[in-house]
Amino acid sequence: MISPVLFFSLSFLCHVAIAGRTCPKPDELPNAEVTPLKSSYEPGEQIVYFCRPGYVSRGAMRQFTCPLTGMWPINTLKCLPRVCPFAGILENGIVRYTTFEYPNTISFACKKGFYLNGTNSAKCTEEGIWSPALPVCAPVTCPPPPIPKFAKLHIHKPSAGNNSLYLDTAVFECLPQHAMFGNDTITCTAHGNWSELPECREVKCPFPSRPDNGFVNYPAKQALYYKDKATYGCHDTFVLDGPAEVECGKLGNWSAQPSCKASCKLSVKKATVLYKGERVKLQEKFKNGMLHGEKVSFFCKNKEKKCSYTEDAECIDGTIEIPKCFKEHSSLAFWKTDASDVQACESDS
Ligand SMILES: *[C@@H]1O[C@H](CO)[C@@H](O)[C@H](O)[C@H]1NC(C)=O
Ligand SMILES: *[C@@H]1O[C@H](CO)[C@@H](O)[C@H](O)[C@H]1NC(C)=O
Ligand SMILES: *[C@@H]1O[C@H](CO)[C@@H](O)[C@H](O)[C@H]1NC(C)=O
Ligand SMILES: *[C@@H]1O[C@H](CO)[C@@H](O)[C@H](O)[C@H]1NC(C)=O
Ligand SMILES: *[C@@H]1O[C@H](CO)[C@@H](O)[C@H](O)[C@H]1NC(C)=O
Repeated sequence: MISPVLFFSLSFLCHVAIAGRTCPKPDELPNAEVTPLKSSYEPGEQIVYFCRPGYVSRGAMRQFTCPLTGMWPINTLKCLPRVCPFAGILENGIVRYTTFEYPNTISFACKKGFYLNGTNSAKCTEEGIWSPALPVCAPVTCPPPPIPKFAKLHIHKPSAGNNSLYLDTAVFECLPQHAMFGNDTITCTAHGNWSELPECREVKCPFPSRPDNGFVNYPAKQALYYKDKATYGCHDTFVLDGPAEVECGKLGNWSAQPSCKASCKLSVKKATVLYKGERVKLQEKFKNGMLHGEKVSFFCKNKEKKCSYTEDAECIDGTIEIPKCFKEHSSLAFWKTDASDVQACESDS
């Protein structure tokens, strides 16, 4: 008699010998899944590895059968991420990226004067394509420039059809009698609008008044406006102090207000003086008097050092102050040496 316990044990051993050993749960592979996934498999059972979406298998077997030994064969399968098409270059812009593989995102920016037409980032999808579609950098354009009141376009060339590109300019001119406040040149900005417009305002100047001892001419009009001109002159022996022509400025006043200045009568009868660096006889050069603004240098004597030096005198509106050191000799005192004939003092140093 065989004991039931022994019988059971034998039949178990027989079964194992025939059926082989079970396989364990298969190794996990990165980015892959196994079907069917169980904790053990009978010999002869099959499993298949699938790469997860976004990954593709490279070479090697994907399908395995549990062998009688109960040990899964060595698995060299690798699931690698899909690679999206190269997207490293964006004309007139830059692409920020690490790799072009699933599931990475890359981002875009355009250089100044261009804008992104499209998305600012895209993802490499499971299918290995970029989503959304890659953008382009399109040039910024400005519409035709607005024209300020009382102004007209002086220089403007649209460079993109009727529109302008970033940094293009337009130059304005005010209508006559109007002055410009602000910059005459506007620029197409990176925002696609124009920089600040100038203003043109009507500007009137008062009628200029006639100077004493002179006259002023200006256009015979109801009013005088920006850029109108007036000319001045003086009666004889008077000299104009200021420009002969003045202009009505943008602040509504004249560029200058010239006046007429008197010439000087000379109290000295005879003297040799320096005039514009040359020795001249005062009584000959200035026999009609000195004009306002003219300058001469008189010679004076330094008695101790027996030498001469000069002092300046200028005719200012009818008055000239003769230097006190200057001594005029009577024509009878022929033995006296004139200061202008004495050797010059050494300049004090
Ligand atoms: C912007 O992109 C759209 C779609 O791709 C295209 O139709 C359009 O012409 C583009 N515009 C410019 C200014 O490039
Ligand atoms: C420019 O503007 C004119 C007049 O508005 C229009 O007839 C023309 O089609 C425009 N051209 C372009 C390139 O937009
Ligand atoms: C006017 O604008 C132009 C261009 O923007 C600039 O070059 C120029 O210096 C400006 N002039 C003045 C007076 O501000
Ligand atoms: C142009 O557009 C920008 C941005 O919208 C704005 O800040 C700026 O003030 C605008 N410039 C002018 C002159 O309107
Ligand atoms: C014109 O007037 C302004 C302001 O009243 C003044 O600052 C300027 O100096 C004047 N110009 C002349 C040339 O007088």
